[in-house]
Amino acid sequence: MSSYKTMLGECICGDSKELIKSLENSSVDLFITSPPYPLINPKEYGNKSQEEYNDWLLEFIGLMIPKLTPTGSIVIDFGTSYLKNKPSYNIYSFELLVRMVKELNLNLCQPFYWYNPSRLPYPSMYVCRRKIRAKDNVNNLWWLSPNENPKADTTKVLKKYSKSMKKYFKKKSPADTTFQKNKGALPSNLLEMANADNKSQYLQACRKLGIKYHPARFPTALPEFFVKFLTDENDFIVDIFGGSNTTGYVCETLGRRWKTFEMSREYVAASAFRFIRDINNAQLCYDTIMNSNIAVDISQF
Ligand SMILES: C[S@@+](CC[C@H](N)C(=O)[O-])C[C@H]1O[C@@H](n2cnc3c(N)ncnc32)[C@H](O)[C@@H]1O
Repeated sequence: MSSYKTMLGECICGDSKELIKSLENSSVDLFITSPPYPLINPKEYGNKSQEEYNDWLLEFIGLMIPKLTPTGSIVIDFGTSYLKNKPSYNIYSFELLVRMVKELNLNLCQPFYWYNPSRLPYPSMYVCRRKIRAKDNVNNLWWLSPNENPKADTTKVLKKYSKSMKKYFKKKSPADTTFQKNKGALPSNLLEMANADNKSQYLQACRKLGIKYHPARFPTALPEFFVKFLTDENDFIVDIFGGSNTTGYVCETLGRRWKTFEMSREYVAASAFRFIRDINNAQLCYDTIMNSNIAVDISQF
């Protein structure tokens, strides 16, 4: 089993259906993850067929629930998908949401929507060629918890005030109590985040070594928002479909303990590039992880 350790976390190669069971009960403050979607044209790491997808994913979520602390949360990112050979939307993520609430007794604390302005048009047949569907730039993010009041604090994810709000606060009379000035604007559930990274150490090292980078990474801003919003320093966060380990990297920089699980050894080994001190050690780091049966300490690279 290839894996590596950092100061605050561990990335483990294996099937997360088994690895979730190894987590202590009531220990996880936040599960945040982006599962493989039931795409018509699967990515290189494979996807379940549309028919079997929801039963498959529901099993993972059932295993995650007892691992949550009493105030813990689950955030799952779902991409959009069309039915095979039809310009009709696949409603899998909506069906799954209903099943998570009805069958697993989870509360939908709030749906979030990730607007990615840099997403390529999909499916190109309907969007670019026939021009019968609009560009689809929004993913659904379901925030769920067994608790109606999980840990959450929007003051940790305040945004810059808009020009008009700044003007309003300047002109506001003391008698006007409509809006109180905070340290920033309260966030909305529409998260605009471009997925346009092309210079992170992860990508640079992949290019240097000629390794194909992960094809479905989320932007660091996405886990960053939920980690800040739903957890405190030293809390414990798990991503069960780790990919290039964006989640682990964000947790490490924000002082949270973390674990990520990923089935592909190659993805695990390459994801370690996010943590190495010297990019010239990337090849040695990659080979060491690929050939090791114990967790490799990343601080040596
Ligand atoms: C959408 S990607 C996650 C990308 C990740 N959020 C990132 O930023 O890089 C989903 C990942 O789940 C992995 N995966 C699929 N089934 C798995 C399983 N049973 N156990 C562990 N990982 C799995 C795939 O190999 C793929 O890398």
